[in-house]
Amino acid sequence: MISIVGMPGLSKTTLARKLYNDPYITHYFHIRAWTYASQLPRKTDMLLDILRSVNVVFTDEFKNMTNEKLGEKLYKQLKGKRYIIVIDDLWDIGVWVDLKMYFPNDNNGSKVMLISRLKEVVMHALPDCHPHCLLFLTEEESWELLQQKVFQNESCPPELIEIGMQIMKNCGGLPLAIVVTAGFLARDNKAQESWKQLAQSVSSYIISDPNQYLDTLALSYNHLPRQLKPCFLYLGAFAEDEEIPV
Ligand SMILES: Nc1ncnc2c1ncn2[C@@H]1O[C@H](COP(=O)(O)OP(=O)(O)OP(=O)(O)O)[C@@H](O)[C@H]1O
Ligand SMILES: [Mg+2]
Repeated sequence: MISIVGMPGLSKTTLARKLYNDPYITHYFHIRAWTYASQLPRKTDMLLDILRSVNVVFTDEFKNMTNEKLGEKLYKQLKGKRYIIVIDDLWDIGVWVDLKMYFPNDNNGSKVMLISRLKEVVMHALPDCHPHCLLFLTEEESWELLQQKVFQNESCPPELIEIGMQIMKNCGGLPLAIVVTAGFLARDNKAQESWKQLAQSVSSYIISDPNQYLDTLALSYNHLPRQLKPCFLYLGAFAEDEEIPV
């Protein structure tokens, strides 16, 4: 069992995805499956997500199966195989309690990874497992990420370094804040004046009050071109992590 814990935007999913797609991991495990829990009840969908990754041929009979039957099918498919299953965005211990019986423990190196914003949920779900609590980025790491996102492979022009560093500090080491901010900086004309304006809107209290990071996200919306604003709002009709069929 592995768990990753941290506030929104601290790069839990990014880290887990990187591991999940690492060539060593894809080679080592016979089965890899990724699902997410979210705040909505989606136990059936979670079982189906995992079953799909197990290469079960889907027939109509799946549609009418109870969760117990789906779970039994999953257990049989996983039995004896070395698997890794990631459950992202876990909010409720009940989801884990309901699912864990379908993951056989054959002592063969299989892994289940739980990802949550809530440390207490993970501690409750896995009392014997020390959660991997992500840290904020250091100033060096933040500056490197900001520069990489704004200038790609080029380095920051000397006249923007001081103001750029100030903006970076105001992001409080939160990767999401850095990436969102870098988006504006890259789009703006990279002039000192417009960077100064942005430095004022990205305020340094992002981290001191966790709810304030939403202000940073609001900037994403406010800076969108007019025709894209309704598109962005339309996405609000979908639940977090939901797939959008096109
Ligand atoms: N080290 C990094 N380098 C580049 N981009 C990053 C890095 N870490 C995070 N990001 C970006 O920051 C954003 C937030 O990261 P992510 O979605 O992984 O956070 P999270 O901890 O899973 O948040 P949530 O609790 O909302 O699910 C993403 O857009 C991601 O691409
Ligand atoms: Mg996430």
